[in-house]
Amino acid sequence: MAVQPAPFPTGLRALGTRDAPFTAVLDAADLPPGALHRLTRGDLDILIAHTSAGVVAIDDRCPHMSAPLSIGTLDGCVIACPLHSGQFDLATGEPVQMPTTGGLDPDGRYHPTWSPAGGSPKEDPPGKKAEARRLTRVRRIRYYPVRITGDTIEVALPANAAG
Ligand code: FES
Repeated sequence: MAVQPAPFPTGLRALGTRDAPFTAVLDAADLPPGALHRLTRGDLDILIAHTSAGVVAIDDRCPHMSAPLSIGTLDGCVIACPLHSGQFDLATGEPVQMPTTGGLDPDGRYHPTWSPAGGSPKEDPPGKKAEARRLTRVRRIRYYPVRITGDTIEVALPANAAG
């Protein structure tokens, strides 16, 4: 089946992409289903992922504490972060599993520090580091428009990254 872009969730378009021109970034053959690719343009690092819903492009930064998702793992539409095991659905932009550190989800709801199944809940330790983790909010994932032209994946990049 031909490679298709995935529709991205309403309201989650990346800044500066509304009228941005599409730029050829990758041969479709180099991004088989399940593959992750990091693209760096200017000061932007972008993740291009071939999910089960199609190809998406987002910032290559975990919405939790900015680890590169391109070295995580993709299962269908769900990407797992290598740093604190957060999991995010690239079809919806929503967290599937909160990071092990706990903290705030995109709606501001607090999730405690993760404990293994069957384990007793971990106490939040005192101190600034623990407070910083509690107050760290998982940001909204932002999407860069993708289109496929012939055998090429194109992404609409903002002006500071398109050159
Ligand atoms: S940086 Fe990704 S889950 Fe924390």
